[in-house]
Amino acid sequence: MRLRDVEPGDGPAYVRMRCDPEMMAHLGGPYPQERAEAQVGHDLALVASGAGMVKMIVVGSPKPETVAGTVTLWRHEIDGAAAAEIGWMVLPGHQGQGLARWAVSGVLDEARRDGRWSVVHAFPGVENDASNRLCRRLGFTLVGERETPFRDQLFRTNHWVLDLRG
Ligand SMILES: CC(C)(COP(=O)(O)OP(=O)(O)OC[C@H]1O[C@@H](n2cnc3c(N)ncnc32)[C@H](O)[C@@H]1OP(=O)(O)O)[C@@H](O)C(=O)NCCC(=O)NCCS
Repeated sequence: MRLRDVEPGDGPAYVRMRCDPEMMAHLGGPYPQERAEAQVGHDLALVASGAGMVKMIVVGSPKPETVAGTVTLWRHEIDGAAAAEIGWMVLPGHQGQGLARWAVSGVLDEARRDGRWSVVHAFPGVENDASNRLCRRLGFTLVGERETPFRDQLFRTNHWVLDLRG
């Protein structure tokens, strides 16, 4: 398995991930197909601007190579201040095998090496057991619960932070 940058041809993988009701259960429900496809262009622009990393998790089994998930690290404002947030997805057929742990850890390592990232925030839903366990396992500190705006809705989330500088 490997991580690679998002590519213009990733539309079908985005649709598989973001139009799946199970995948989007904690993320406001499935996107319409056009919205998922449009997200590729948005993410390519994010990477090109230097304000984010969008990595695709590629697995070689079963052949041919296929996208099993994605990890995104992006700068934006949180509570009115400049900040960075990370999010992740692994498709149902690939879950429960440590893929998210491996991939998120890889992205955090790359951000550490890059040197331009400091505190990273994550906001998994309070009932998103896998994501909350992932945060704990990767060394994030739980700040507490909060209401987090996403896709014009408010979600009851946990707030985790990890300082990449030390
Ligand atoms: C969250 C998600 C990425 C986890 O992917 P994964 O590859 O299955 O995760 P891993 O196998 O690396 O496991 C990570 C942790 O979650 C736990 N876990 C995995 N699946 C789980 C499940 N269904 N229920 C509870 N815990 C689970 C693992 O045991 C592990 O915890 P541990 O280290 O304490 O044992 C995946 O479930 C997903 O994409 N969900 C839908 C999208 C989503 O909610 N994204 C998060 C937005 S913040």
